[in-house]
Amino acid sequence: MIEDRLTAAAEHTGDAEAELSLRPKTMDAYIGQAKAKEQLCLFIEAAKMRGESLDHVLLYGPPGLGKTTLANIIAHEMGVQIRTTSGPAIERTGDLAAILTNLQPGDVLFIDEIHRLNNSVAEVLYPAMEDFKLDIVIGKGPGARSIRLDLPRFTLTGATTRAGMLTSPLLDRFGVVCRLEIYTCEELATIVMQSARVLTTQIQEDGAVEIARRSRGTPRVANRLLRRVRDYAQIRAGGVIDRQVAHDALNLLEVDTLGLDHVDRRILLTIIEKFAGGPVGLDTLAAATGEEAVTIEDVYEPFLLQLGFINRTPRGRVAMPGAYQHLGLQIPGGEGEEPQQMRFIP
Ligand SMILES: Nc1ncnc2c1ncn2[C@@H]1O[C@H](COP(=O)(O)OP(=O)(O)OP(=O)(O)O)[C@@H](O)[C@H]1O
Ligand SMILES: [Mg+2]
Repeated sequence: MIEDRLTAAAEHTGDAEAELSLRPKTMDAYIGQAKAKEQLCLFIEAAKMRGESLDHVLLYGPPGLGKTTLANIIAHEMGVQIRTTSGPAIERTGDLAAILTNLQPGDVLFIDEIHRLNNSVAEVLYPAMEDFKLDIVIGKGPGARSIRLDLPRFTLTGATTRAGMLTSPLLDRFGVVCRLEIYTCEELATIVMQSARVLTTQIQEDGAVEIARRSRGTPRVANRLLRRVRDYAQIRAGGVIDRQVAHDALNLLEVDTLGLDHVDRRILLTIIEKFAGGPVGLDTLAAATGEEAVTIEDVYEPFLLQLGFINRTPRGRVAMPGAYQHLGLQIPGGEGEEPQQMRFIP
């Protein structure tokens, strides 16, 4: 089950509660994302100095990198309330009208998955964002008339994993656009140390680094691995997480040194061993691994592509030298004699 995958960047059902307590509340506690932070701090300070609301902000980037967290921090730093909703939750224009008319001046309206807003709702949102006006139609048929209401000045904060799916009229109305980046190992180790403090778990720096290295550049994964390693440490190692404990725990959980799990490895091994390194079409690969094609494409492939372990070609997926190296296999056409048999347990 992908939902249960330890290394998935998307939110698990059990994550929400744990994330709430681990979520940093202030800009200072928000680790990394130097560029986005610098921009936002500047605009927040300027807006506060002028006593105005902050310009609309779009946050985009892969799941689990801290978009929701940052939206909450923006409201906190501005000293205003945050009202949270999501694209698919606003079904009718009336839903949006109700939300907008209930805002207080300066409030942050956070719309998660903003790429999933339907067109008629988006049409109402445009004038609201631009002129802080709400056009509503009263009545039906020939007697219908349109009235224009004034709205308080608010800050729309949109989050999306797919900025490419936003229409340009929507995109154009954001004054600040921040792209969140994959975290470095050092940043993730800092986050792990910070989360361990909140969880009152004893951890040594090298233990945090070991968890960070296997977290796929994603704080959500890092926090999830920390919680599992904490359980292991509690039962098997007297509660203290050091490098060895983290290493043993993560091996037991089948998360390897780069954060790949058994499905990632199975996909790579299938391309290499069954299809001679590729190219192999997505559907064939799906059939051979027993995963669904969309799951491979949306869930597994992005990180493998990012590592440079596979490549997408018009004729299909190809395994790259890095994948052979990581799995301890001989690179075809590379230096050396006999192909090695050593590899990770699939
Ligand atoms: N910069 C950060 N510093 C510390 N912790 C972070 C940071 N970014 C994210 N986190 C942690 O990662 C968890 C997931 O972050 P968040 O929910 O904000 O991600 P998201 O980008 O909104 O994901 P999704 O796309 O799935 O909605 C948070 O609960 C928080 O604990
Ligand atoms: Mg989110």
